[in-house]
Formats: sequence, C-alpha cells, structure tokens
Amino acid sequence: MSKQKAITLAMTGASGAPYGLRLLECLLAADYHVYFLISSAARVVMATEHDLKLPSGPDAMKAALVEHLGCNADKLTVCGKEDWFSPVASGSAAPKQMIVCPCSAGSVASIAHGISDNLIERAADVVLKERGQLILVVREAPFSTLHLENMLKLSQIGATIMPAAPGFYHQPKSIEDLIDFMVARILDHLGVEQGLVPRWGYDHR
Ligand SMILES: Cc1cc2nc3c(=O)[nH]c(=O)nc-3n(C[C@H](O)[C@H](O)[C@H](O)COP(=O)(O)O)c2cc1C
Repeated sequence: MSKQKAITLAMTGASGAPYGLRLLECLLAADYHVYFLISSAARVVMATEHDLKLPSGPDAMKAALVEHLGCNADKLTVCGKEDWFSPVASGSAAPKQMIVCPCSAGSVASIAHGISDNLIERAADVVLKERGQLILVVREAPFSTLHLENMLKLSQIGATIMPAAPGFYHQPKSIEDLIDFMVARILDHLGVEQGLVPRWGYDHR
C-alpha cells in the first residue's frame, strides 16, 4: 500500500466525538487509507454524544463504522489498543501524518512525556520521532497550568495544538456547521482539499 495517502486518526476521551467521526468521513472521502484508533474513554464519550454505539473489538468496530459511514471497507484499518504489530507502531511503516481528535488532557500528558503505553500514545511518539505531522485537537475548559505546560512542550517539539474551538464568523446555523468549521481547519493543515466552509477572503463577504 502506498504510504503517501495513508493517515492515522486517533480518538481519545475528550468531548467532541462528532469532530472525529466527521474527520474520518472526510479523510475516507478524500481517498486516504485511514488507520483508526480509539481509546476506551472515547468509546464512552461516543456513546454519550452520538447515536453510534461502537463495539470494542476492532473487527466489529470496523463493520459498525463502514455501515454508519457507507465507506469503502478496504480504506479503513481499525487497530486495537495493544496491536503492536500495526504499521502505526513503527517508524518504518507508519503514516507521516496523525491527528488525535478529540484529544483529552490525559492523552496530551502521555504524549508529551513519551509514555507509549497504548497504541495511540506509541503512534504519536512514532510520528514525533520521525518528525512527521502530529495534530492534537485538544478539548478541556479551563486549561490547568499542567495542561498548558504539556501543550507548550508538544508545540515546541513540532506538534500542532489545535483547540476544539470553532469560530462563529461563518454564521453557523447548526451543530453540523460548527463541526465542519473545526474539521475544515484540520483538513487545511493536513493539506487535504475541502469545501466544507467558505474560505476567508475568497468566499467570505
Ligand atoms: C462524557 C465524557 C466527557 C469527557 N470530556 C473530557 C474533556 O472534554 N476533556 C478531557 O480532557 N477529558 C474528558 N473526559 C475525561 C477523559 O475521558 C478521561 O480523562 C480519560 O481517562 C481519558 O483517557 P484517554 O485519553 O485514554 O481517552 C471526559 C469523559 C467522559 C466520560
């Protein structure tokens, strides 16, 4: 499989599951092969915030996602949290781009300190050591000094901290509009073509 159009998307247990799901949909539509990872806490958040109930096993989860999104099953790999033989676990095979969306304060701390105790943390550690692109869509309010220190540390070593904080200047009419605002900013950073929201200075009046 070509590494060029592969990407890693991890969802952790911060509020904002709909962002991650919409991002997955958009990456698959853009013809990326997506390595999808989700923490146990993120499954709880998903069940709280969305109608989609994700089973715990990777195969059953993949089936549920393919059915929900109506996507091509060949383009989606769901990895278990200790699937150490997954391509994302090694710098020799991992995609160069990874997004954690949403990203909990706990995962921020683990990634900032290189804990690598589950596949999400390991995959992020791999992208950092390989000097790839790591985007963390962090959600917490307020941020403690510890959160801010961890985010500063990650920013200084090359990660992009993108708070889940949609703007309102595109005059959103629905929750979907707010979700798409965040997803559009993430896709812009990844270099993925998107037409989800009007582009400032071009389509915007
Ligand atoms: C419904 C729900 C919402 C949560 N929202 C947040 C949040 O917005 N930000 C955050 O940092 N943690 C949040 N948490 C707590 C995290 O899920 C918890 O700290 C968890 O251990 C994170 O683990 P993970 O990073 O491995 O997913 C939430 C938990 C639940 C159940």
